[in-house]
Amino acid sequence: MTRTHTCGELRLEHVGCTVSLCGWIQGIRDKGKLLWLDIRDRYGITQLILEEGAAPSTLLQQTKELGREYVVKVQGVVCERKERNPRLSTGDIEVQVQTLELLNTAKTPPFLIEPDTDGGEELRMRHRYLDLRRPPLQSNLMLRHQVMQQTRAYLNQKQFLEIETPTLIKSTPEGARDFVVPARTQPGQFYALPQSPQACKQLLMVAGFDRYYQLARCFRDEDLRTDRQPEFTQIDCELSFTTQDEIMALFEGLTKYLFQHIKQIELPSFPRMAYATAMQLYGTDKPDLRFGMPFVELTHLAQGHGLRVFDDAVLVVGICAQGCSGYTRKQLDLLTDFVKQPQVGASGLVYVKCNADGSFKSSVDKFFDQTQLARWGEVLNAQPGDLILVLAGEAQTTRQALSALRLKMGNERGLRDPAKFAPLWIVDFPLLEWDLTTQRYQARHHPFTAPRPADISLLEEEPEAVHADAYDLVINGVEVGGGSMRIYNRAMQEKILNILGFSAEEAQQQFGFLLEALEYGAPPHGGIALGLDRLCSLLGNSESIRSFIAFPKNNAGRDVMLKAPAPIAQDQLQELGIEPKLR
Ligand code: AMO
Repeated sequence: MTRTHTCGELRLEHVGCTVSLCGWIQGIRDKGKLLWLDIRDRYGITQLILEEGAAPSTLLQQTKELGREYVVKVQGVVCERKERNPRLSTGDIEVQVQTLELLNTAKTPPFLIEPDTDGGEELRMRHRYLDLRRPPLQSNLMLRHQVMQQTRAYLNQKQFLEIETPTLIKSTPEGARDFVVPARTQPGQFYALPQSPQACKQLLMVAGFDRYYQLARCFRDEDLRTDRQPEFTQIDCELSFTTQDEIMALFEGLTKYLFQHIKQIELPSFPRMAYATAMQLYGTDKPDLRFGMPFVELTHLAQGHGLRVFDDAVLVVGICAQGCSGYTRKQLDLLTDFVKQPQVGASGLVYVKCNADGSFKSSVDKFFDQTQLARWGEVLNAQPGDLILVLAGEAQTTRQALSALRLKMGNERGLRDPAKFAPLWIVDFPLLEWDLTTQRYQARHHPFTAPRPADISLLEEEPEAVHADAYDLVINGVEVGGGSMRIYNRAMQEKILNILGFSAEEAQQQFGFLLEALEYGAPPHGGIALGLDRLCSLLGNSESIRSFIAFPKNNAGRDVMLKAPAPIAQDQLQELGIEPKLR
């Protein structure tokens, strides 16, 4: 059943050759005595022609009965087309069919197998194998393949070793819930699926494999979003005898290498921004720097004029949207509705229009005169024609809400061009953050991140002031990767676990293996993990990582094709020592 060529291969130079092709029927145009067929495989589409006289009449008749997505093998002669199709790479030729073998029939697919399809998301997920036949998804998975191969090429050349770590492990905290697997032979005991290979890769450093990488499958039971899947892949790396700067240079290098080899784009040097600056200027630790619109604090100018929302606020902060003073009442109402949604969380929106004639029109004209509004304009560097948008309230929620509004304005003004790339490093993270729900400190990255040596003296008295030697790679507002230097001494690791609220027994029980390994000559080490799915979606100019995963889960974490998760049989539950839940 061999083929001589693929459906994307034939050109004018092949005219006169006898070829055989295999593929799926994309479409048939029946003109009676003349029949055109398009056959498709992952390489492209080739037009076939059957003409009365040139082809045996039984063949013509047989071909008329074929349907879309039937699988065929044809043999024929390559001819130059009378009317060329410049949109197809094979558009200069067609194949005059001599024999056709039907390899398999197909039911009519429930949606069009075309670049633009008519099928809804749910239907396409249910028949993912058909959706994956469509050219955009085919090229997404080919891009993913390239990213994986180029990543390996880059890291291999830098002396990294690819080492696999186990999937059935013990919980490694990365801030999400674990997926667990019951152990049949030890009833009541569970493996955890790795949220990342963090602990194992550190143990590999203790073992002396000073440069490790793995395209590692990670599992996290957390709320899903367009850039989150319960099962995803990391380009996971760890290095010994290294520094933060060396790691950042190596992985900036990898990112540039991928953009260069896959997109032919030369990225500039990645700027670095302190976490505190990112929060102050953009209200997020993953700012989209494809556009400006930085935050400007107005608290001192806004308070003391009798407006309650400002006077009661901890923070009054604004952004300037260039050229948006013409926004209508309706548009402004929509923006107000947007910021008041529970997931954005602001109580309202104040606007100031900077009119073309130099005057100002605001939603707070009763409280502020033209001179005062002009002062706002000055600090925000607003020009005539611009629109100032202001939020007020508690500091953190107000910054988060303004960050969401900034992104919305970026979208509305077309400033978030997917073909533009703005990478940066976020550095100087706090080591810990106070968690209001659990009333204890949480590690900002994970519990194995090293405190900055200069800040160690603050650990007891002012834990929140301690910085970590940690770094995140952000591109276009997406957190692509994160890493840190690690703790490599038992006493320090115990101290951090203690600050995180683990008793000595809990620490021993959960992390005893790591604590012990740190006593056997652990080298200084650090590492990073890049989200492969997110990187692919950025390289593929898309916001959703799902289109770059062969078989993703839906928004509810379900695989609607495999119908997973699913109940298991009563006897299987019993075998696993799990009591069936009583209703
Ligand atoms: P972190 O938790 O920051 O670090 O994860 C690293 C990167 O993995 C990607 N990522 C995800 N991608 C898709 N779906 C998810 N649910 C998801 N969660 C994370 C992101 C993220 O930046 N062990 C550390 C790394 C280290 O310190 O070396 C870790 O896992 O792109």
